[in-house]
Amino acid sequence: MGEEAQAKNPIPRFVAFASGSGSNFESILKAIERGDLQATCVGLIASRPQIGAIDKALDRDIPVHVLPQKGSESTNMSSSLDKELTNVVESMRPDFGVLAGYLQKLPSSILDVISGPVFNIHPSLLPKFGGKGFYGIRVHEAVLEAGETESGCTVHLVTDHYDEGPILAQARLSIPANCTPKDLAAAVLRLEHTLYPITIQTTLEDYGTLQSTFATAH
Ligand code: GRF
Repeated sequence: MGEEAQAKNPIPRFVAFASGSGSNFESILKAIERGDLQATCVGLIASRPQIGAIDKALDRDIPVHVLPQKGSESTNMSSSLDKELTNVVESMRPDFGVLAGYLQKLPSSILDVISGPVFNIHPSLLPKFGGKGFYGIRVHEAVLEAGETESGCTVHLVTDHYDEGPILAQARLSIPANCTPKDLAAAVLRLEHTLYPITIQTTLEDYGTLQSTFATAH
């Protein structure tokens, strides 16, 4: 892009948050590298040290901030950590945020310093199998225990309420007979890697018309 075009249409900057292997984070970075997603990652917030997502960021010179590991600190301490994290995120000047397997609840002060949408992906067809306790393999165990014949993943906006923000897109699959939770997790994760970057791109393109949705979501 030329300088003039870029000044009119700057590439949106995002901060990512991860707690695990970071395969969704990597699928987003790869979509950017292929030119399928117009965005720049300006930082990764890692909730734990030594997680796969950190290597994926460092390989690409993306700054990483690892959260201090919480012990049995008081509520005051925890709110000062929230403030510190909010300052870190604010200093990155992100236009939007991406939760990529982030297991902690985002303090609402973070939503306030990110001017645009904050996205999340969940490995079920929300509103089913979402909310407190539904994470990792537990989601897929619950889907199979309930005798569901299909599952999938959901991209939604993040709000103060866990897994409850407006749904942007879903991808579905049929569950074969004798499917184990592990098989289902792997099949859904493959769907996530395609759905997440595409949904972020299309949502950013529609951002102007969707602003009222974002305003209500925050
Ligand atoms: C994914 O299943 C995602 O839906 C959920 O957390 C998991 C993260 O996996 N929010 P990865 O770290 O991206 O591999």
